[in-house]
Amino acid sequence: MAQPLISPSILSADFARLGEEVRAIDEAGCDWVHVDVMDGHYVPNITIGPDVVKAIRPHTEKVFDVHLMISPVDQYLEEFAKAGADIITVHPEAGAHTHRTIQAIHSLGKKAGVSLNPGTPESALDYLIDDVDLVLVMSVNPGFGGQSFISSQLRKIEKIRKMIDATGRDIHLEVDGGVNPETAKQCVAAGADVLVAGSATFKGGASQYAANIAALKGEG
Ligand code: DX5
Ligand code: ZN
Repeated sequence: MAQPLISPSILSADFARLGEEVRAIDEAGCDWVHVDVMDGHYVPNITIGPDVVKAIRPHTEKVFDVHLMISPVDQYLEEFAKAGADIITVHPEAGAHTHRTIQAIHSLGKKAGVSLNPGTPESALDYLIDDVDLVLVMSVNPGFGGQSFISSQLRKIEKIRKMIDATGRDIHLEVDGGVNPETAKQCVAAGADVLVAGSATFKGGASQYAANIAALKGEG
């Protein structure tokens, strides 16, 4: 089985030392950096905004995988693009015009992702999949790190893998929430190729990051 890309969620990093933390996960072998943006409106938590993305951008050259859990979203896309996002992922549940939002992300020269909450069926992708670069399956309800993986999402991952293969396009299938070395294996077996991991990456402090990332990749 191919090794997944690992996108550590910096939500579980030490926010007082964010630049250092980003450098540490880079050196520990992460593939992407996952940035969880929450607005206290679409989800019940407030995290970080474009200024923080800009501040950490010089600390790594890795792909910035920016997950926007905000509503409305369109008016902030340009700021996140300018701040250094490479991939911008949005929730169709958060706004009425997701297709337009995807077009706007592309017109900013960035890759566009669509994320589905645990209660949203894969059919939400029917008329979006041909235009996206990434599908993000939420395996927890968005809002907080450290929650337990919702196993019913494995069926959804399998179904979306088939939908992606049918397009013949290279679309990433990413899973976010409750990913640990054990659930990582299940996600990869179901067809995921990118795994977000917050608690499982940052646990034990910087000396453990490389081992944590290796374990998520299924090494050792
Ligand atoms: C949840 C966020 C996730 C979360 C993952 O709303 O989108 O990225 O921080 O954290 P863990 O890996 O701890 O479940
Ligand atoms: Zn996320």
